[in-house]
Amino acid sequence: MGNFLAGKVVAVTGAGRGIGRAVALAAAAEGAKVVVNDYGVSIEGGEPSSAVAQAVVKEIEAAGGTAVAVADDVATMAGGQRIVDTALAEYGRIDGVVCVAGILRERMLFNMSEEEWDPVVATHLKGTFTVFRAAAAVMRKQKSGTLIGFTSGNHQGSVAQANYSSAKGGIISLVRSAALGLHKYGVTANAVAPVARTRMSANVPMELKEIGEPEDVAAFVVYLLSERARTDGVTGQVYTVAGPKIAVWAQPVELRAVHADEERPDGADGGRWWTPERVAEAVAGPVGVDPMPMLAQLEEMARAAAAKERPNS
Ligand SMILES: NC(=O)c1ccc[n+]([C@@H]2O[C@H](COP(=O)([O-])OP(=O)(O)OC[C@H]3O[C@@H](n4cnc5c(N)ncnc54)[C@H](O)[C@@H]3O)[C@@H](O)[C@H]2O)c1
Repeated sequence: MGNFLAGKVVAVTGAGRGIGRAVALAAAAEGAKVVVNDYGVSIEGGEPSSAVAQAVVKEIEAAGGTAVAVADDVATMAGGQRIVDTALAEYGRIDGVVCVAGILRERMLFNMSEEEWDPVVATHLKGTFTVFRAAAAVMRKQKSGTLIGFTSGNHQGSVAQANYSSAKGGIISLVRSAALGLHKYGVTANAVAPVARTRMSANVPMELKEIGEPEDVAAFVVYLLSERARTDGVTGQVYTVAGPKIAVWAQPVELRAVHADEERPDGADGGRWWTPERVAEAVAGPVGVDPMPMLAQLEEMARAAAAKERPNS
């Protein structure tokens, strides 16, 4: 056992399987007391079972660590609150929350139903909010704490997962909002976009060139939860972990701007700077477009479909 997280209390959602389980085991191995949350559902979010969270608690205890199970659904306010309340009741504090829980319901946008949209957004985005919300109230008073959300490279967009992609984009904005809103209370917030072999990534309809194991992601999360990351001033960031690769994503910024250079034409064009014609000139000219990297991938997907192969990422 290491001591990177000695004395800390950490809650991990979706900790029964895959990346969440690896994070819970790694945090416990580094000395944290861990709340293991998992609703124990299928990849689509059905058939809940409390056995999944219990099994990871047993693994942690067998390795000499300390953990408690919470089998609640993170998509409910009561579930998020119970995860944090359990940490307080069992261990007296909460130093970090890691929101890993997630499901998939894949469908093209033009066929997607409300039953495919709502639970995916609720599990990922609301499920991060419910836990952040409950933890932030305690961390604000404690004047310390770490919030970690799980996003995906798919926040850039997705052909057949508009629900998942939207939720993952939302998580990045939620993390940045948490980083801003809690900065003065000494609380940090960051997001991780992992690529690791789990039942969920086995579902990805393409050959992933850069992929690793859940344990690679877990090591990164342990760092983010540690005092080291806090003294390094790491907050408001999005990191990718894919096996041997770690990467930081850029903050969104305006790329190019143009300003109407004439005096405001009082009276002319109703006193507006912009007419559709002037907008067209600006977009065709100095403002331009920013090419979308994922659009280029569509060509590879079409090629692979024609050759009956899995496309390369
Ligand atoms: N595996 C990857 O390569 C990859 C890539 C990008 C993003 N992610 C993200 O990483 C996270 C973990 O993914 P994974 O691959 O380990 O998936 P996984 O399916 O192996 O594990 C997800 C866990 O979340 C639990 N869960 C689902 N709904 C829940 C709910 N409402 N409340 C509590 N627990 C719930 C499940 O029971 C499951 O044990 C997810 O947020 C996923 O979107 C994973």
